[in-house]
Amino acid sequence: MLDRFNRHINYLRVSVTDRCNLRCRYCMPEEGITLIRHEDVLTYDEITAFTRVAVAAGISRVRITGGEPLVRKGVTELVRMLSGIEGITDLSMTTNGILLADNAVALAEAGLMRVNVSLDTLDPEKYRYVTRGGELHSVIRGIEAAQKAGLRPVKINCVIKSNPDETDAREVAEFCMKEGLEVRFIRQMDLASGTFSVVHGGTGGHCAKCNRLRLTPEGMLRPCLFSDRGFSIRELGAEEALRLALEAKPERGTANHVNGFYNIGG
Ligand code: 5AD
Ligand code: SF4
Repeated sequence: MLDRFNRHINYLRVSVTDRCNLRCRYCMPEEGITLIRHEDVLTYDEITAFTRVAVAAGISRVRITGGEPLVRKGVTELVRMLSGIEGITDLSMTTNGILLADNAVALAEAGLMRVNVSLDTLDPEKYRYVTRGGELHSVIRGIEAAQKAGLRPVKINCVIKSNPDETDAREVAEFCMKEGLEVRFIRQMDLASGTFSVVHGGTGGHCAKCNRLRLTPEGMLRPCLFSDRGFSIRELGAEEALRLALEAKPERGTANHVNGFYNIGG
């Protein structure tokens, strides 16, 4: 699929839930979030049917995100359904890793190819602070389990304040080097003000090279992380939503007042 700016759109990020078992300070508002009603959340059948149409239209890479995808019941089943779609060459998941140790083998067996795990610090106290209660050792166990299960390469998403030289980022980088993990540094963003920058070691944040569309848990197809526009796949149908989202893909992101990271998945 080519958009109006001749960008090749081949990457779909599917947020399967707005729920999360952590409360990262830069992601979830302090006061908590208004959760989507269960009946408004796309079923696995709906997600799979939409993805099939998207793949026929030119999508070849699919990432499952959240919220935290592993808190949605039966997400392994979704992985199995998506991995059955011919034409997907890269099927991945972004997770906070807390539940990964328990799920890595089943995910790999269901056809997940690889995972990105969010990890901003190796200090257990700081991790608990940033995530408002998360246990670092669960994530470390999750990363090990993912590697063992063959979900490779395991990539680490590390949110930084300003630059990859800050202490936490350096420690995460060292850990990754030692453990054979790929690290990507993501400058902390603000959706509402449109503050974003290119991801170090990744492809995100580079508007001229952007190749993605995003599907939210309630079935809005969004052309850009930093845009308020979205097209309901339930109301419009898959083909029309795809056509409109492609057409609406802006040359550059501006701001998003509709979503938070907890429901669009970064
Ligand atoms: N800025 C940058 N990245 C963020 N994430 C969540 N909130 C923000 C933010 N405000 C990241 C998570 C995860 C990915 C899905 O998005 O750390 O790695
Ligand atoms: Fe949950 Fe990820 Fe948001 Fe942290 S950044 S609260 S792990 S969705």
